[in-house]
Amino acid sequence: MKRIAVIPGDGIGIDVTRESMRVLRRINDVFSAGLEFVEFDWGAEKYLKEGVALPPGAFEMFRKDFHAILFGAVGDPRVPDQRHAAEILLALRFGLDLYANVRPVRLFDEKLCPLKGVRVEDVNFTVVRENTEGAYVNSGGVFKKGTPDEVATQVEIHTRKGVDRIIEYAFEYALRDGKTKVCMSDKSNVMGYAGDLWQRAFKEIAVHYPEIKTSHLYIDALCLLMVRQPKDFEVIVTNNMFGDIVTDLAAALQGGLGMAASGNIHPDAVSLFEPVHGSSPPLAGKNIANPMGSILTAAMMLEHLGLKDAARAVENAVIACVKEGKTTQDVGGTLGTREVGEAVLARL
Ligand code: NAD
Ligand code: IPM
Ligand code: MN
Repeated sequence: MKRIAVIPGDGIGIDVTRESMRVLRRINDVFSAGLEFVEFDWGAEKYLKEGVALPPGAFEMFRKDFHAILFGAVGDPRVPDQRHAAEILLALRFGLDLYANVRPVRLFDEKLCPLKGVRVEDVNFTVVRENTEGAYVNSGGVFKKGTPDEVATQVEIHTRKGVDRIIEYAFEYALRDGKTKVCMSDKSNVMGYAGDLWQRAFKEIAVHYPEIKTSHLYIDALCLLMVRQPKDFEVIVTNNMFGDIVTDLAAALQGGLGMAASGNIHPDAVSLFEPVHGSSPPLAGKNIANPMGSILTAAMMLEHLGLKDAARAVENAVIACVKEGKTTQDVGGTLGTREVGEAVLARL
């Protein structure tokens, strides 16, 4: 038995999670997977009504009682500073120490890629994003706020332990996934202190992985080459902020945010799986959102739980739907969210 916490969140997070839940229930039937689900209604609605984003005791509960978390998305225009989103999603990433944000980038059909002449085998890499430090610690301050002399500082934190462990994770991931190259990306030509730490850590750790080819790119150059020659990349490791930005760009290569899956992982503890996209308020509740990113995220979760055959089956069902054009509008189809969910179910 494996206990899964389900947090649909806000907006299309709710629409797409409904479909991945149908898929997971089917997986239970077909593979006797023994998944048990507990749903949590955390999100903007609850925050606005009760003032509670993440209830006290949440981290302990997840660590003690659950094997994984399936997350939708958070973000709602009624909460202008998105405080609830930070208190739920960022708090879970930090509080559960989910230091590796693994974002695979795969093209399932040429017609989904906006670039010309790109084949399916040309887009197949993974971004390993540091997920617990960098710009996301929200360290800094403000001085003389609201005056012409206002000063704001926003400080990035990079720890030796944090940088080492994400780089090690990237190399181990490469070995596990049969990949042969790891590219580290930073902005060490400008951000000298953090850059120096990342550069030294990368070189020192690479020595322990002689079978893996290493390279380095400044983040701006990575953006260029990711578009021009995506097939050069296998594993990319980078910091929290650069990883956030570059995975939206990478998502475009796969057909857009609707196709992109991710895991927030601590190798030895309860981990959280979520599509890369947000809550897209304009599409919410309209049966328009693409559920494939969430369904592929559920497959990543199955894989993480050791249910490899089930994970492959879900992935293959999505690939078959893409090839047959059983997709939502964002990737060229005519179906709604629910109908895509049904098409995936029909192939399981
Ligand atoms: P978004 O990902 O919600 O949307 C960006 C664009 O992609 C929009 O055009 C949207 O319609 C489209 N899109 C995204 N997912 C799609 C899907 N499944 N199917 C079809 N089209 C899809 O990002 P945004 O508009 O910048 O942010 C909206 C809200 O979501 C904000 O509050 C933001 O903070 C939040 N957000 C949350 C997460 C998360 O919970 N992990 C991630 C990103 C953004
Ligand atoms: C993502 C999102 C989040 C991030 C936001 C919603 C805090 O953009 O998961 O990519 O910046 O990490
Ligand atoms: Mn993002």
